[in-house]
Amino acid sequence: MFTGIKNKVAIITGAGTGIGYAIAKLLLENEAKVVINEIDKTVVESLYNELNSQFPDQTVLQLGDAGEIEVIDQLISAAVHNFGTIDFVIPNAGITLFGDFFKFKPEDFQKVIQLNLQGAFFLVQKASKIMIAQNKGGRIVLMSSITGIKGYPDLTCYSMTKAALRMMTKSLVLVLGPHEITINCIAPGATLTERTKNEEPDYAGTWAKLIPRGKVGTPDDIAQTCLFLLSKEAAHVNGQTIVVDGGWTAIGRYPNDLQE
Ligand SMILES: NC(=O)c1ccc[n+]([C@@H]2O[C@H](COP(=O)([O-])OP(=O)(O)OC[C@H]3O[C@@H](n4cnc5c(N)ncnc54)[C@H](O)[C@@H]3O)[C@@H](O)[C@H]2O)c1
Repeated sequence: MFTGIKNKVAIITGAGTGIGYAIAKLLLENEAKVVINEIDKTVVESLYNELNSQFPDQTVLQLGDAGEIEVIDQLISAAVHNFGTIDFVIPNAGITLFGDFFKFKPEDFQKVIQLNLQGAFFLVQKASKIMIAQNKGGRIVLMSSITGIKGYPDLTCYSMTKAALRMMTKSLVLVLGPHEITINCIAPGATLTERTKNEEPDYAGTWAKLIPRGKVGTPDDIAQTCLFLLSKEAAHVNGQTIVVDGGWTAIGRYPNDLQE
């Protein structure tokens, strides 16, 4: 359906489960090569073995914390060493830490900033240097959130980082645009992943009632949008945040809501 994916080399962080895993799998199905990063060794090894047997020679696993500079350097080396190039970068890993604003601790603040911002900033910086040197363009997709657009209870720190990623997207078109490298951002709405399932017993049912489409999002909804942004067809889409939320951010609260 979309072109320009086959034989391209992608780096995806936090790809052992959830949205990152769905993006990795969709890219592999479209014959791309993928450096998969994940922090959780136990989760990822069985999944990686499954992907590796289904798509031999198309994947490399690089364990580690995607917020650490050393791990980012290893991801870059893994792509270049194993596949000779970098075409797509998706800093997907993010930490969602709920907490009362008045009790939020500096160490938790640092944890969120390190992964959500430092991880994305330096992976993009280091990978795009290589893309520029290669002189054959590239695609970057950042992972924001609807909570970076609308206020959400007990998520101030996380939401700040997700809003910052939207600004990083806009800002970098100036630097990367002249090199045929596009940078865009996805803001997923409530999406049913292993983590969100554990957050609330009826996560899907609750969000189905709040989302105009009447359904919670799936990792594949996000992966399909990402595939488009990585494709040749999206060459002129640059600096944008695409909200994938079934319509949740399109509406506000109404007087009628108070009557229930
Ligand atoms: N699921 C949602 O509803 C939702 C909504 C909006 C935005 N997002 C964003 O989308 C991205 C993916 O969300 P998700 O729900 O699939 O994520 P998740 O929390 O389920 O994590 C996905 C994977 O990342 C791994 N991971 C965690 N910390 C890591 C680190 N420091 N380094 C490397 N890997 C790490 C986890 O072990 C997990 O396997 C995140 O940036 C998240 O903020 C998700």
